[in-house]
Order: sequence, then C-alpha cells, then structure tokens
Amino acid sequence: MTFLFNSDAKRGAIFARAFAEELPDLAFSMNAASVDPDEVRFLITWTVPDDLARYRNLEILFSIGAGVDQFKTDLVPEHVKIVRMVEDGIVRMMQEYVTLAVLALHRGLLSYLVQQRAGEWCGLPQRQAHERRIGVLGLGVLGTAVLERLKPFGFPLAGWSRSPRTIEGVECHHGETGLRTMVAATDILICLLPLTPETTGFLGDTLLGGLPVGAMLVHAGRGPQLDAHALIEALDSGRLAAAVIDVTDPEPLPSGHPLWRHPKIMLTPHIASVTQPDTAARAVIDNIRRYRAGKDPIGLVDRRRGY
Ligand code: NAP
Ligand code: GLV
Repeated sequence: MTFLFNSDAKRGAIFARAFAEELPDLAFSMNAASVDPDEVRFLITWTVPDDLARYRNLEILFSIGAGVDQFKTDLVPEHVKIVRMVEDGIVRMMQEYVTLAVLALHRGLLSYLVQQRAGEWCGLPQRQAHERRIGVLGLGVLGTAVLERLKPFGFPLAGWSRSPRTIEGVECHHGETGLRTMVAATDILICLLPLTPETTGFLGDTLLGGLPVGAMLVHAGRGPQLDAHALIEALDSGRLAAAVIDVTDPEPLPSGHPLWRHPKIMLTPHIASVTQPDTAARAVIDNIRRYRAGKDPIGLVDRRRGY
C-alpha cells in the first residue's frame, strides 16, 4: 500500500519523515515512475495528473492546498474521496494576512504610502475600531478563524455563508437576503469563499455597488471571483476607498494589468496562506487514521457543492 506525494521535494522530505514515524506500514513515494500503480491508495497533489486512471485502487485524492477548484473533478472516479487541506499552518497564515490587511485599511496605510512618496506630512481623519464594520464572505475553516483573530480589536463583526451558522460575537447571515443585508452594513469586506460556478465573478458591479460609499475590500479567495474592472471603476469613482488583493485572474498577473499600479490597491502574489509541511503532514496522517477507522476525513469535499 503506497502514499504517493506529487509536489515539491522539500515539502516531500518533511512528509516522508513524518510518514515513516507515524504510518510505517504505508510505503511513501515521491516518484510516480517507480511505484506500482496498483499499490497507490492515497495521492497528494495540486492538480489532478492526466494519468490518474493508472491508479486503479486509489481511495483518497488529497489536495496539497485548501482549495480544490484546480482539480478537474470529472477526471476523478466517483468512489475516490477528494479531501482538501485543513491544517493549522494555513489557518495561522490566513489569520495573519487578513489581520494585516484589515489593520492597514483601517489605519489608512495605502493613503499614507501615497503621501510618503509625495513628501506630504498630513494626518488623515481616523475612525475608531467600533465604527468600522467587518463582513466576511465564507464562514468555513478560514473565515471563522479570521473572525476569531479579529475579535480583540473591537470591530463589529459579521459573516455570510450558504447555510446558517452561529458564531459568538459575530452577526451571521446566509442566503441572498442575508448577503444584501450584510454587504450594506460592511466597511471592510473580506472574501474567503471557495471558487465554484456560483462564486465566479461574485465580486462584481452589483455586490461592490451594494457596499457603503468609502468601503474597502480584502480579497484572499480566488482570482476569478473578482471582476477587476468593476473594482477599478469603483475605486476610481471614489465609491470604494481601497483594496488589498492577494489573488488575481490570471496568475501570475500580466505586466501592464491595471491592478499592478493602482494607488488604492495593495497587491500580493497569492501568498496570503501557504501549506506548511510539518502541520500538513500531521493533518494528512490524522486523516488517513480517521479514514482507516471508518470516519470521514476532515476536509472531505462535497462534489455536488464543489468545495
Ligand atoms: P471552507 O471551510 O470550505 O469554507 C467555505 C465557506 O464558504 C463556507 O462557509 C461555505 O458555506 C461558504 N460558501 C461556499 N459557497 C458559497 C455560496 N455560493 N454562497 C454562500 N456561501 C458559500 O473553505 P476554507 O478552508 O475556509 O477556504 C476558503 C477558500 O479560501 C479556499 O477555497 C481557497 O479558495 C481560499 N484560500 C486562499 C488562500 C490564499 O493564499 N489566498 C489560501 C487558502 C485558501 P457553508 O458554511 O454554508 O458551507
Ligand atoms: C492556496 O491558495 C490554497 O488553496 O491552499
């Protein structure tokens, strides 16, 4: 029985050590060419390999990342479970990134950078945290963790998901009406939705137009969720004040794209959160143990929902 690791060798070496210690009965390989394909029961990868069909006894396909939108799931036989990455490292990094972005927007850092470059020494009006309403799109592993981390700052917190949720200290919304209500009362909107047909182009004219004048955006979901031209129009017209963008469409962002140089945008190259091999190996090992004990792995993807 083999676990096949199809990602970078540096992370693979850390996985290999953890597997040797924790699951010595399972052969671990980083070399698809040298394994007996019939022995491969578990595969971890970022994209689905074209030759997936050769692993006839595959039981679980693990994503090395939190998202699974990059998987062509129609290539994956129905009986194979698809499991996304849920691990402490990704959660911690996303908490850091969103906190950084929210505080930067809240304290007007982008405006101060523009002023610095122009040699202007000028304090700007500043709202207090209790006057800055935060709304999070997506109340899953990351949305919930980010809200938890923002709690001590004193921002009024809200969140939106597909199904109803209850989170202490957070006004939770769901469904179409819930979305409109939350967006109309949000000063900093944070997108942590998975990419699905329903969320593609989600951050467009209508949604951005529903935000209060002067609102701001943090986008750390997936690039195709954002209509970049709608964002730029909203920033140029002054309807929106600023944005922190971590994900774009396409990636890498082509040179000359207007997102690169917009003074009201802080852009990062999809680094908000990255799988950390130590914690990720532990999470995958735990999931294999759960699966062997007849339990559902954590992060099991519902193919119908697409996340
Ligand atoms: P998750 O646990 O699956 O949570 C997804 C949340 O989104 C759930 O609350 C879900 O609602 C909600 N949702 C999905 N589709 C919806 C829809 N159509 N309408 C309303 N709510 C919807 O996912 P996660 O682990 O938090 O990760 C979220 C995403 O973050 C990933 O898919 C990935 O795209 C992105 N990400 C980005 C980075 C980065 O570096 N930028 C890193 C990691 C992840 P329910 O609760 O009702 O199911
Ligand atoms: C990164 O974007 C991930 O999905 O882990």
